[in-house]
Amino acid sequence: MRQQIVAGNWKMNTTLEEGLELTKSILEKVEKPRGLVVVAPPLTHLRDVGKMLKVRKYFHLAAQNCYQEEKGAFTGEVSANMLASVGTEFVIIGHSERRLYFKEKNDVLAAKVNVTLARGMRPIFCCGEPLHIREVDTHVGYVAKQLKAGLFHLKEEDFRKVVIAYEPIWAIGTGRTASSLQAQEMHHAIRVLVAKKYGKAVADDTTILYGGSCNAQNAPEIFSQPDVDGGLIGGASLKADDFAAIIAALK
Ligand code: PGA
Repeated sequence: MRQQIVAGNWKMNTTLEEGLELTKSILEKVEKPRGLVVVAPPLTHLRDVGKMLKVRKYFHLAAQNCYQEEKGAFTGEVSANMLASVGTEFVIIGHSERRLYFKEKNDVLAAKVNVTLARGMRPIFCCGEPLHIREVDTHVGYVAKQLKAGLFHLKEEDFRKVVIAYEPIWAIGTGRTASSLQAQEMHHAIRVLVAKKYGKAVADDTTILYGGSCNAQNAPEIFSQPDVDGGLIGGASLKADDFAAIIAALK
């Protein structure tokens, strides 16, 4: 069944103390979410935040990244196995900041998807076009290529565990959101693409999140679109009130 999800990506923000305080406030403010709530704190907070989330139904722990190799001499990197060992359930893969600043390419992202699934966690696979691609109207093809390269090697059983997050790069952290119609157009196109590859039943069950300057004001309209199943939230996930209001906007 298709799940409604709001995921908070804290990026490189908060000390451990601040992160635990934020988690506490979120737990206080969110009573009975209509879907799953996923929190992706920095790596250093995973274990402690995870412990707090664990005692509450509907709350899940995510990492913001993982390394594509299983183990070994990769100084400074963290493996999927390590993430799973501290209770991580989801891993954000292919965020545009990883693609841009860390030059993560499709083959590496596909490998990250594989190690994540192999350790029993669910990838939140990000896709989305830069502004110049949107301006020449080739965004659907651009995103289709990202999905084919990062995900479409998976068997149906594994693909069913994946959450897709559509995040137009021009909307991330810019205050400029895609209109609900722009989001719907792309989410629908993604679902059609998934249906072509895995069949309609799988496509209907696939959770597709919107991300990019999503906030308490615009979330209700964006989430009301038929192919939008919630959001991946950056900036607004750092404020418990805003994050709670976005969660309340789930269908
Ligand atoms: P934003 O970030 O909500 O701050 O635009 C979204 C994201 O990068 O996931």
